[in-house]
Amino acid sequence: MKTVTCTAPVNIAVIKYWGKRDTELILPTNSSLSVTLSQDILHSKTTISAAKEYDHDRLWLNGIEEDITKNKRMHNCFRETRAIRQAMEAKAEAEGKPIEPLSTYPVHVCSENNFPTAAGLASSASGLAALVYTLSQLFELTISTSEVSRIARQGSGSACRSLFGGFVAWEMGEKEDGSDSYAVQIAPETHWPDLQALICVVSDAKKGTSSTAGMQSTIKTSLLMNERINNIVPARMEGMKKAVLDKDFQSFAELTMRDSNQFHAVCLDTYPPIFYLNDTSRAIIQLIHEYNATSPDGKLKAAYTYDAGPNAVIYAPKENMAEIIQLIGHYFPSNKEPAEFFANPYNAISGKLGEDFLPKDHAKFNQNVIPVQPVGSVSRLLHTKVDDGPRVLSQDESLLKEDGLPK
Ligand code: DP6
Repeated sequence: MKTVTCTAPVNIAVIKYWGKRDTELILPTNSSLSVTLSQDILHSKTTISAAKEYDHDRLWLNGIEEDITKNKRMHNCFRETRAIRQAMEAKAEAEGKPIEPLSTYPVHVCSENNFPTAAGLASSASGLAALVYTLSQLFELTISTSEVSRIARQGSGSACRSLFGGFVAWEMGEKEDGSDSYAVQIAPETHWPDLQALICVVSDAKKGTSSTAGMQSTIKTSLLMNERINNIVPARMEGMKKAVLDKDFQSFAELTMRDSNQFHAVCLDTYPPIFYLNDTSRAIIQLIHEYNATSPDGKLKAAYTYDAGPNAVIYAPKENMAEIIQLIGHYFPSNKEPAEFFANPYNAISGKLGEDFLPKDHAKFNQNVIPVQPVGSVSRLLHTKVDDGPRVLSQDESLLKEDGLPK
């Protein structure tokens, strides 16, 4: 029996992936670029064990057993990694130095997120990245991280970007077989340590359109989407890569906000339209624009971005985080225990949340830009930073017992 446990991070795109040219292979209609967020705050953890004694492949997701054969995307990831392992085994055999035939053993997979799925945070990227990375470690695949990302892409598009830390591009590629559609690291996490993120978990009772269904509806019906794919994103990708390499927050922030806004614009241009933002999301957008517009030197101080849901992710240099946390704390009051609402993991603020909320030096800041929102509109604030890619954990971190069943 062989067992491996790994964690993989969440990534939040600043140039959005939206639209597939091949829904089976998961090939996108445009390239995208994301920032990998710290696994200390959010991660998916996966243990996989392979044993010839096992009866069949089994999977437990967040404590519940699921039928692995019904999940086509996961099945594709297993097929691809097993095929590479099988080729390694055949080669080793031919060379007279046989290795364990792990590719023929059934596996047990146990996976969980360290954040509640109810928080509405995208878990497919970190979850599928953790699965494929753990398989690559279990099978000791001698392939590059970009190759591993090419396999993870077939589990969920955005998952391919969670194979690297730091700043990551998913190059869309051109080939029909998808062999040139994978993630590459633009810069490691150490490149721009000053950049941090604040995730505002926005309460939302209803379940929206899934990204998988939503993006194909956009492709079919939005005319604006052609403009985005053909004439806008290619230049934005170049601009964003340069902004990251130059650590140019001004360009990074403007491109990030414009691309988030355009992604939600093509959702509105989809017929029938798709709405992911709600009133709370829009209030955060207005607040960040006021904060930026009244900055004393005219420079942008924060950037928001939204995926297929109402949660805001605010990127900002570390020095602005205390002000931003106080602002959000004031306009989006909570009735939770302070530490439950905002854990303050990096000691960004010293006083009480929301008390001293007026940004320093912002003489023209209009306090009435938005009214103070109903209590609980934002349910949690998560302060996080740019960090590393998947991690291999020690055996005692395993989610499976000796008998191969969940702990
Ligand atoms: C809005 O990766 O969840 O978060 O490939 O169908 O699994 P599938 O979609 P998914 O889409 C994510 C879309 C997005 C933007 C992004 O992360 O780039």
